[in-house]
Amino acid sequence: MPAIANPSLLILHHHHHLRPRRFATALLPQTLLSLLSSSIRASTLRPHSTSSSAQTQPLSTDNARTGRSGSISSPPVQPDIAQKIDINPPKGTRDFPPEDMRLRNWLFNNFKEVSQLYGFEEVDFPVLESEALFIRKAGEEIREQLYCFEDRGNRRVALRPELTPSLARLVIQKGKSLPLPLKWFAVGQCWRYERMTRGRRREHYQWNMDIIGVPDVTAEAELISSIVTFFKRIGITASDVGFKVSSRKVLQEVLRGYSVPDHLFGRVCVIIDKMEKIPIDDIKKELRSAELSEEVIEELLQVLSVKSLEKLEEKLGTVGEALVDLKQLFSLAEKYGYADWIQFDASVVRGLAYYTGIVFEGFDREGKLRAICGGGRYDHLLSTFGGDDIPACGFGFGDAVIVELLKEKGLLPELSPQVENIVCSLDQDLRGAAAAVARILRQRGQSVDLVLENKPLKWVFKRAARINAQRLILVGSAEWQKGMVGVKILTSGEQYEVKVDELE
Ligand code: HAM
Repeated sequence: MPAIANPSLLILHHHHHLRPRRFATALLPQTLLSLLSSSIRASTLRPHSTSSSAQTQPLSTDNARTGRSGSISSPPVQPDIAQKIDINPPKGTRDFPPEDMRLRNWLFNNFKEVSQLYGFEEVDFPVLESEALFIRKAGEEIREQLYCFEDRGNRRVALRPELTPSLARLVIQKGKSLPLPLKWFAVGQCWRYERMTRGRRREHYQWNMDIIGVPDVTAEAELISSIVTFFKRIGITASDVGFKVSSRKVLQEVLRGYSVPDHLFGRVCVIIDKMEKIPIDDIKKELRSAELSEEVIEELLQVLSVKSLEKLEEKLGTVGEALVDLKQLFSLAEKYGYADWIQFDASVVRGLAYYTGIVFEGFDREGKLRAICGGGRYDHLLSTFGGDDIPACGFGFGDAVIVELLKEKGLLPELSPQVENIVCSLDQDLRGAAAAVARILRQRGQSVDLVLENKPLKWVFKRAARINAQRLILVGSAEWQKGMVGVKILTSGEQYEVKVDELE
C-alpha cells in the first residue's frame, strides 16, 4: 500500500477514471436523486423495505433455541464450561488490527519494492526449524532467547530467532544447482525470548537481504545502498540515521598477532559485543575465561576505541585485509552517493558468532533507540552446517525500531482504508441485483464494499466516509428495471444514472 500523505488527493485522482466514458450524465430520476442529494433527509429512510420479515417479525422460538439468529440471541452461558481467557496476546507479541496491518503492509511493501529495485528474489522458510540449526558454541545471547521445545515426534524444534541459518540450510540443500551469485530477500517473523524494551519484542518481523557467492565488498556496498534507498523512500535522511561500519578482520588481525587460536575468534567477538550492555570489568573477566592474556585484552580494548581509518592504520601498523576492505567500502560509498550515511567505528562487532568480515549497524543519531538494522559478511557459516563454504553477506532489518523512529520524527504515514465503491440496494428484493452489480465491478478490477444488511442511508454514507469509498452506487427498483443504477461520486457530490453495462 503506498504512502498516502493526503488521501483526498488519491481519491480525486481516481475519481477521473471512475466516471463512465461513454455515458452522458443525466439527472437521476426523482427517487434516487432525492435519496442521494441529502444524506440528512436520507437518514430517515432505510434502503431496504422496512416491512421485510427480518425486520419486523419477532424471533421464532426455534431460532432462539438453536441460537442461529446471529447476534440477536446467544446460547445460554453455562458457568461451569465458560472459561475466562486473557484477551491480550502473550507478552511481547502483537495483534494486528486493520490500522496496524495497514502500517505493516506499507512497511513490508517498501521492503519488497526496494529489494526488487535491486534485483533480489524473494524466498521464505518455515518459522519452525530444528533446534540444532540455531545452536552455536560461542555463547550468543540469541541461544539463551530461543523458543525451543520437543514436538510430538520427540524432535527438538525451535521457533526461528533469525532467518540466516535457514537461508544457509536452503543453499546447502539446493547445492550446485544454484546459479551464483544469489540475491535473495525475505520478510519473516522471528521469535526471541527477549527482555522487552522500546523496539525490542519477543516476536518481530525481519526484512533480510543476502548476497551469496560474492567475496568482494562490492556486495556489502550494494546492501548498504539498498537500506539507504529504503530510508530515503520513507522520509528518513542522513541526519536522522547513520551506519557504523567495521570489520571483524580488525579483531582477527590483533588476535592472530598474539597467536590466539582461531577457534576462539567467534567467542571473543560475542563477548566484546556486550560492551555497551555490561560493565567493562565483567567483559575483561569473560575474556580472561576465554584464555586471553591481559596484554591481548588491553590491546583489543584499545583497538576497539578507534573511530577513524587513519587511526586504525596507525594502530595496526600494516594495511591488512581489514583495511583494504574498509577502504574499498568507503570509496564505493562515495560513488553510490551515501558516504555521509556511514562512519567507521571499530567498536561495532555484532553479537552473532558467524560474521567474518565487514559488519555494520544502522543507528538513530539522537541515540534514543536500539540498533535499527544490522548485518555483515559470514563466509564460513555454510561449513558449520557441513556444506561447502560460499562467501556470503546480508542484513536483518526489524519492523519495530523503525516504527518507533518514524513516530519520533513525525513520519508515520496516514493510511486509511481504501475501497473504490460502496454498493447498496434500496429494497430487500434488490439485494441480488446489488450483488450482481458488485460482481460486475469486481470483475472489472474495482473493489466493492457491498452493504449486506438493511441499513439506513445515513449509515451507508457514514460507512462510505469511514472506508474512503469514492463512489456510492444505489440500486433502486425503477432504475433497475431499465438496467440502470444511481451513482454518486462522493468526493465531488456529482451524481448521475448509468447503465450497469457501462459502469467502469
Ligand atoms: P540481528 O542483529 O540479531 O541480526 O537482528 C537484525 C535486526 O532485527 C536488528 O537490528 C533489529 O532491527 C531486529 N531485531 C532483532 N531482534 C529483535 C527483537 N527482539 N525485537 C525487535 N526487533 C529485533 C540477525 O538476525 C542476522 N541474522 C541478520 C543478517 C542477515 N545477517 C546476515 N544476514
